[in-house]
Amino acid sequence: MYIDEFNIIIEEIIVNNNFLKLKYFRHHRESIYDHSLKVSYLTYKISKKLKLDYKSATRAALLHDFFLYDWRKEGRREKKKLLKKHGFTHPKTALMNSKKNFLVNKKEADIILKHMFPLTLIPPNSIEGWIVMVVDKYITIKEFLQKNPDI
Ligand SMILES: [Fe+2]
Ligand SMILES: [Fe+2]
Repeated sequence: MYIDEFNIIIEEIIVNNNFLKLKYFRHHRESIYDHSLKVSYLTYKISKKLKLDYKSATRAALLHDFFLYDWRKEGRREKKKLLKKHGFTHPKTALMNSKKNFLVNKKEADIILKHMFPLTLIPPNSIEGWIVMVVDKYITIKEFLQKNPDI
């Protein structure tokens, strides 16, 4: 079953106390934790179907937004500046936090660092990285369009 294998792959990460803090940081319309889980599950399904390195892809997708701050809490004037800066810097922060808490392989590191492409200018090195980059954007747009997050 898809969901059983997915749960085994993400287990080490979702029980980590620092990763669990993502439940308390808002992202788009929900928590970073919920957003990351969705990106991770869809990435898992696609990369498994395509017979790729789905374990690295799933783990990197789960860790891609591992930053522990809320840029929305800044004043209105600062928000625009911060949003731009945040787009460039949060992949590095996510990788730093991931390395502090888990063993991150080369492919996972590249996927996390390049998930904001084309903003980050250099494209992902792997097909798995391209999948995470596209899935993250797809889930983000879906979250923004959702009026009722429970639907
Ligand atoms: Fe991100
Ligand atoms: Fe994201």
